[in-house]
Amino acid sequence: MKVRKAVFPVAGLGTRFLPATKAMPKEMLTVVDKPLIQYAVEEALSSGITEIIFVTGRSKQAIEDHFDHFCELEQTLMARSKNALLREINHLVPESGTFIYTRQNEPLGLGHAIWCARHIVGNEPFAVLLADDLIKSDKPAIGQMIEQFNRLNASIVCVEEVDRKATASYGILDADPPKDRLTKIRGLVEKPEPDAAPSNLAIIGRYILTPEIFSILERKETGAGGEIQITDAMANLLGQQSLYGYRYEGIRYDCGTKVGFQMANISYALDRPDMRARLLPFIEQICQQ
Ligand code: UTP
Repeated sequence: MKVRKAVFPVAGLGTRFLPATKAMPKEMLTVVDKPLIQYAVEEALSSGITEIIFVTGRSKQAIEDHFDHFCELEQTLMARSKNALLREINHLVPESGTFIYTRQNEPLGLGHAIWCARHIVGNEPFAVLLADDLIKSDKPAIGQMIEQFNRLNASIVCVEEVDRKATASYGILDADPPKDRLTKIRGLVEKPEPDAAPSNLAIIGRYILTPEIFSILERKETGAGGEIQITDAMANLLGQQSLYGYRYEGIRYDCGTKVGFQMANISYALDRPDMRARLLPFIEQICQQ
C-alpha cells in the first residue's frame, strides 16, 4: 500500500525552548522566514503525501491559522499589488479536507500523540514527521524513506550516528552500522545511558509506520520519563515484524534545542545569496571581537 498520510505530532510543551514556547508553539519558531512546521509540511507534500494530520494541543491555534486564509491580509496585499507575497501565502492554504486536526488532551508522550491519530490514519502505512528535526537535503528525507518502504514493505525509522555521550537524549537502535544507508533492527532502547547504549545510531524525527503499531500503543504502557514512548511500542512490534533503520542523506538541525535552532538559522540564511552577502562579513567581524 502507498504511504498517503503523514502525522505531525505538535502537542508537546517545548520546555527546552522556554520562555519562547510559553504562549507560542515550538513548531511556529521561524528559520529565516518560515516556521518549522511549514518546512516539514512542504517536505511531506513534495514526497507524495496527500493527507496531513496534525495532533495538536493547547495554545497551538497559530498552526491552524498558518495554513488557512487571512482575508484582511490577502485584500491588503492585493490592493498594494504585492503579488509575489500574495502567491506565497496563498500557496500555504490547502484544498479543504486535506489537512486534518485532532487533539491530544494531555501531553502523555510521542507514542500517545501518534495513537491519537489512529482513527484518521486507519488501516494503512503512514509517515510521522517531527517538525523540530529540520532536515536539509537534495531529496526530501521522508521521500527517501518512502522509497525504501516501497521496496521493503516494513516500518522504517530515520537514524543518525550521534556522539556516544549523547545517547541518553535519543531512542537508540540495537543494530549493525548501516550498509547502503539501511540496517535491520534487532532492538530499540529509549534514552539509554552511554554505557548501556547498544550502538550510537539514534532515531531522529522521521518514521514510516504500519498500522499494527496502534494496537501496541493502545496498551498505554509508559517508559522513559513516565511517557508513552513510540520507541518502546516499536520494540514490541519487533516480535511480529521486521523494522529497519535508514541513514538519511542530508544534514539535520535539532531545532528543539536553542543551539540547534541557531545553527539552522545561520545555515539557511547563508543559503540565500542576498543574505549571505551581508551575513558572512558580519559573522567574520563578530568572531574577531
Ligand atoms: P519532544 O520530545 O521534543 O518534546 O517531542 P516537547 O514537549 O515538544 O519538547 P521539550 O522536550 O519539552 O522541550 C517531540 C515531538 O513530539 C511532540 C512534540 O510536539 C514534538 O513535535 N509531542 C511530544 C506531542 O505531540 N505530544 C507529547 O505528549 C509529546
